[in-house]
Amino acid sequence: MVARPPVDSSLVSDAPEITPENVDAAVADALSAIAAAGSTIELKAARAAHAAEGSPLARLNAQLRHVPNDQKAAFGKLVGQARGRLTQALAAREEELVAAESAAQLEAERVDITAIAPRGRVGARHPVSLLQEEIADLFVGMGWEIAEGPELEHEWYNFDGLNFDIDHPARQLQDTFFVDPVERHLLLRTQTSPVQMRSMLERDLPIYVLSPGRVYRTDEFDATHLPAFHQFEGLVVDKGITMANLKGTLDHAAKVLFGAEAKTRFRTNYFPFTEPSAELDLWHPTFKGGARWIEWGGCGMVNPNVLRAAGIDPEVYSGFAFGMGIERTLMFRSDVQDMRDMAEGDVRFSEQFGMVV
Ligand code: DAH
Repeated sequence: MVARPPVDSSLVSDAPEITPENVDAAVADALSAIAAAGSTIELKAARAAHAAEGSPLARLNAQLRHVPNDQKAAFGKLVGQARGRLTQALAAREEELVAAESAAQLEAERVDITAIAPRGRVGARHPVSLLQEEIADLFVGMGWEIAEGPELEHEWYNFDGLNFDIDHPARQLQDTFFVDPVERHLLLRTQTSPVQMRSMLERDLPIYVLSPGRVYRTDEFDATHLPAFHQFEGLVVDKGITMANLKGTLDHAAKVLFGAEAKTRFRTNYFPFTEPSAELDLWHPTFKGGARWIEWGGCGMVNPNVLRAAGIDPEVYSGFAFGMGIERTLMFRSDVQDMRDMAEGDVRFSEQFGMVV
């Protein structure tokens, strides 16, 4: 006996009979598997199970050759149409799934182009710095120079050289921050006036200088006082300088900073380093509370003792000087109610003054 491989009759014996019911059942199974496929990968599996070789429909198709000739056309058409429906259903489902998958991918990779790019906030320059620069520009525009002096100053420049008596009340510990050890006579300057003396000692005559900068006093921190604040100091020393030059200069500065309607006036006062001295008042129609005079700063003709201390002959030269607070100027110009806003460094305050550079 020759050994033969066993006959695999399963394909034949298990093959379903080709009937409209069996074809419909195969199609129904296939369609529900196609509809149930939730992804292109699942659809591929459904295609393999229901439309590829070995699938119930393919096996029904294979039965065609056992169908009697006179029925071949009818059954052929039946199976052909069934396969056509599956092909169509697969294509339609595939299109749906591909669209859904690419939409999901786009959504997952979505970039919100309207979102604000995460870069640092620009911030805003401090209004005191802006005003200080504006004031400096105004005087530079008249041909003046900008002079600087140290904030940690020697007592001589801050007081003695400016003709302050040894027991002048401003020297008292309650007004001035003296720096330890006191024998070194160092202090935090209480005014920008020491730059007057430094300028007269360092510069050639004539002198036209403006000196803006920070000053310190042992003041309370409240709505109208800051222990550290800013002043701008003006000094002119030349031949033939009179109080009319002082008045004209300050009037011009007031109009540039506050508008053409601004006016200034002098009230007699005393400062050790000027003689005569005046309190400078400023008038403007739109000040808070209406048209009124406000106290803006101090000024006067440079005291001959100060000129002499700087080695300048008061018989040949004369001069004028003035000093104003920058925070105070800003308060009146921009209607700031509380000076503490200027010291606290909150950008929401600074931003209101715009991005002037
Ligand atoms: N230094 C004075 C102060 O801080 C202000 C001042 C007054 C400055 C008169 C001057 C001046 O130059 O002439 O109170």
